Amino acid sequence: MTDRLAGIHALITGAASGIGAASARRLAREGARLLLADVNGDGAKALADELGQASVQADVTRSADIERMLDHAYQLWGRLDVLLNNAGIAEVRPLFDVTEAEWDRMLAINLRAVFFVLQGAAKRMRQQPPIAASELRGKLIQTASIAAYRGGNANMAHYAASKAGVVSITRSAAQALAAHRITSNCVCPGAVDTPMWKKIDAEWGALEGWQTGEAWKRRTALIPLGRPETAEDVAGLVSFLASRDSDYMTGQAVNIDGGLVMGN
Ligand code: NAI
Repeated sequence: MTDRLAGIHALITGAASGIGAASARRLAREGARLLLADVNGDGAKALADELGQASVQADVTRSADIERMLDHAYQLWGRLDVLLNNAGIAEVRPLFDVTEAEWDRMLAINLRAVFFVLQGAAKRMRQQPPIAASELRGKLIQTASIAAYRGGNANMAHYAASKAGVVSITRSAAQALAAHRITSNCVCPGAVDTPMWKKIDAEWGALEGWQTGEAWKRRTALIPLGRPETAEDVAGLVSFLASRDSDYMTGQAVNIDGGLVMGN
């Protein structure tokens, strides 16, 4: 336990589960004040209550919810130092079967919403004084994926496209916001043991006629570091990006995948 995030006020989307929840625990342990946002408002509230933090129910695909979520942060603290722009969904669909509705839903949550949450946060951040003991006004952290680079195998083309878009937005934001002293970086996890991967495992297994756990076993067997990734592994990188130690980094997409993107 350190206090390296003391004085940091952070908003986390998709905070009720998986990587968002693990990041909330980690950031809270390091002294940050948090607003936990999720479409699952009860889940966000339960974690916030446990951690002594605040929560808000918000569907990031709705602009009114984005505004209400950001207003909530500014009502609490009068500023926002860190955004963890993390909410997302996954879905297994063979390339030939992806419908327009499935494509649109994937891109609405994983890409369009990420952009407008980032835009709303940056609009407010650019008007605030710098973070205590920092030259920066704010830090934006997106959750992308190694799927941005390696594609989504045969069955997650729409997901992979959304994540490539997140890397692109991250870089555009870094360029546009540097003069405002706002940084933008993203994390690219590999195969993380969260409820999202349970869903991938079930859907992928159903396609192949595999038992529960088989898709997960096959994917994680390819990880050079020899074990599956945990949400806490990602939270460690999030904590670094939220801290002053990363103040001179912007526009970066950082893989945290046990080497999976390299294969073995
Ligand atoms: P998860 O399914 O455990 O958690 C996602 C959270 O986002 C849930 O609490 C869900 O309610 C929330 N959410 C979904 N749609 C929302 C919406 N419209 N508005 C607000 N909240 C919404 O998933 P996990 O694994 O923690 O994923 C978090 C992020 O990490 C996602 O962006 C995902 O694509 C990314 N990621 C996950 C990997 C994995 O292997 N699990 C690998 C690489 C990236």
